[in-house]
Amino acid sequence: MKFIVTEDYEAMSRTAARVISGYVSSHPDCVLGLATGSTPIGLYRCLVEDYEAGALSFKDVTSFNLDEYRGLDPQHDQSYRYFMEHNLFSHVDIDPARTHVPDGACPDAAAACAAYEQSIAEAGGLGLQLLGLGHNGHIGFNEPAPEFPKETHCVELTESTINANSRLFDSIDDVPREAYTMGIGTIMAAKEILVVANGSDKADIVRRAFFGPVTPEVPASILQFHPNVTVVVDKEAAALC
Ligand code: GLP
Repeated sequence: MKFIVTEDYEAMSRTAARVISGYVSSHPDCVLGLATGSTPIGLYRCLVEDYEAGALSFKDVTSFNLDEYRGLDPQHDQSYRYFMEHNLFSHVDIDPARTHVPDGACPDAAAACAAYEQSIAEAGGLGLQLLGLGHNGHIGFNEPAPEFPKETHCVELTESTINANSRLFDSIDDVPREAYTMGIGTIMAAKEILVVANGSDKADIVRRAFFGPVTPEVPASILQFHPNVTVVVDKEAAALC
């Protein structure tokens, strides 16, 4: 595991964006696994800058997002599809037909999840997967649990995740209770993994995830077993390591 500590959020974003742009430049037709949340917003901005400067193209890239709220229409401004359009896809030359986000509007959970897993397999599996880190160690929406879920599945969100994400909705009652997410097995099958985290509120979980015991109670801790992981954190998030 490569563990990189940067001065601040800007430097974290730039460093992580460099990992992604390096990967895309050397594998122009790669499969990128993408993440939402506040943490990657800065790095998406850096990628857009690189694209606008002519230094990067997503023309032949295929993308798969980690997760999506169940029951939210892709048009909803808190859906992860909307987030990706707004923060990355509409600003670069990625082919919209090659961008994938689980279909939150599909009421048949088993069908939505199986179709997503199938599309990832048909694309040849994930190349580089980007991950943020939930306060309880969740990756995607894989919440602490007695075991590591293997494939894309439907989850019930924990109260702590609903609370954390309620800041983005008008009221906590508007936060969906369920989501579709890649499984830990889907994520671990990626060839490379890049994790970003910033801020003092992530310091405890960064320590537990990357320097504590590997347990499904801290889903991100499984990443310690992946052969090619880069973690980029700012110094506040690294404060307890
Ligand atoms: C959300 C997302 C995760 C994200 C995490 C952290 O619930 N499902 O993919 O990594 O929480 O979000 P943030 O970066 O806003 O702290």
